[in-house]
Amino acid sequence: MTSPKNDTLEILQGANFAELKSFIIAVTGLSYYLAKDEDLASRIARRLTTIGFMDNASYLKLIASSTAAGSELDLLIGELTIGETYFFRHTEQFDALRQIILPHLLKKNLERKRLTIWCAGCSTGAEPYSISILLRRELKIQAPEWSVQILGTDINRGFLDRAAKGMFDEWHLRSVKDELKRSCFKKVDKSWEINSEYKEGVSFIHHNLITGYYPPRFDGPEPFDLILCRNVMIYFNQDTVAEILPKFDRCLAASGWLLLGYSEININLYKAFDLIPYPGALIFQKKKPTKEQFSAPVLPILQQFPALSHADTPPIATTPCLPLQIDTNDSYLKCRRMINTGDLKGALLAADDLILKDQLDARAYFLRGLALLQLGKDQDAEQALRKAIYLDRNFIIAHYHLGLIYLKLQQADKARRYLTNASTLLADKSMDSVLVEGDGMTALQLTNILKTIGEAA
Ligand SMILES: C[S@@+](CC[C@H](N)C(=O)[O-])C[C@H]1O[C@@H](n2cnc3c(N)ncnc32)[C@H](O)[C@@H]1O
Repeated sequence: MTSPKNDTLEILQGANFAELKSFIIAVTGLSYYLAKDEDLASRIARRLTTIGFMDNASYLKLIASSTAAGSELDLLIGELTIGETYFFRHTEQFDALRQIILPHLLKKNLERKRLTIWCAGCSTGAEPYSISILLRRELKIQAPEWSVQILGTDINRGFLDRAAKGMFDEWHLRSVKDELKRSCFKKVDKSWEINSEYKEGVSFIHHNLITGYYPPRFDGPEPFDLILCRNVMIYFNQDTVAEILPKFDRCLAASGWLLLGYSEININLYKAFDLIPYPGALIFQKKKPTKEQFSAPVLPILQQFPALSHADTPPIATTPCLPLQIDTNDSYLKCRRMINTGDLKGALLAADDLILKDQLDARAYFLRGLALLQLGKDQDAEQALRKAIYLDRNFIIAHYHLGLIYLKLQQADKARRYLTNASTLLADKSMDSVLVEGDGMTALQLTNILKTIGEAA
């Protein structure tokens, strides 16, 4: 029997690998694999180890022959998708839901008392259930008075089966405080099962964002009040994202909301929506079709900035949303990756390690600050970012994040100072340069973000 490594090589070097790869990317949207041939081949090899080895052309024929449940394509998708998720992922986005989006929807729908939410690319369900908990526990939205429908969809049926069971391990609950955990979940062996009251109205169905129909379900003509598609489109290229956005737009009710992952920002692609700046999150609202006088709820502090405008944003860039290749030996990238995947304690240790090696390392302090920020330790994060800027006054992303912290802390003058610093420093950069510690963000993208926040460059 050949080892998986040999199988991987055979696939990689075999005839028709390019066609096989193109087909897979075309049906799943996972452009993430464009620059990851070996990773892709080793995932295909895992399937071939199970079903018996065959050449690339035969395997392509097999996966192209059916898209039905349980088909080989379906099983391959189980190997290809990355389902990292956890409850209340990305604090700032949940703050935006809590403070802006859901209060607006509850007010808007007060008469009919219905709310429909779509979590596209929901993985094993932590995201839809987090929203269910938020609505029921914090916002006191209860059945039968209110009818809340939260639909979770995903391309990976295995994830959906797990989501429907509502069982989670400690890792998925890593950012849930003990008290909340004990009141919303029941411990079953080493896992936690979500209480049935939070399962009410939450359902899961299979849907491929690339090949599927929009909306994903036809049993209710009602458009969605809110669509979340977080940390899904980072795996797609910008053309794919540009195709999906109008479909989301069509599925949204009047003045409905779209919430995407933080690192998926390329503002130029979202011109069809109104952008509502919020510290640490960018949220989008369906544009008003008429002159209807709806004034979007805006944080008091943000009202001090000029109105949002897309008018002078440059044309769509054609680069992928995120750099697709990661040098895994780079300690900074490793630390950043831990932050992005929610391993915040690991990230903090990694940043401290870097500081131990070089106490004048501005990037290390910056990463420490980002990890602290995600852990909700705003004051400590502020100190770490100030230190990073002290060590490197030209550290654009550190100025930007420190500005965001001050926005969050309602300290408008300081926020303005640091956001303006970022704008001033950006003016000297080439617009297509990728910013240090910007998680793939270019000078152009940050310039646009700052404009939406109201700090003209
Ligand atoms: C990293 S998870 C994000 C989960 C959740 N939204 C969150 O932010 O915690 C990405 C999910 O996107 C799903 N996905 C990838 N390609 C998809 C596609 N073409 N259609 C639907 N879902 C897709 C994956 O199966 C995976 O569950």
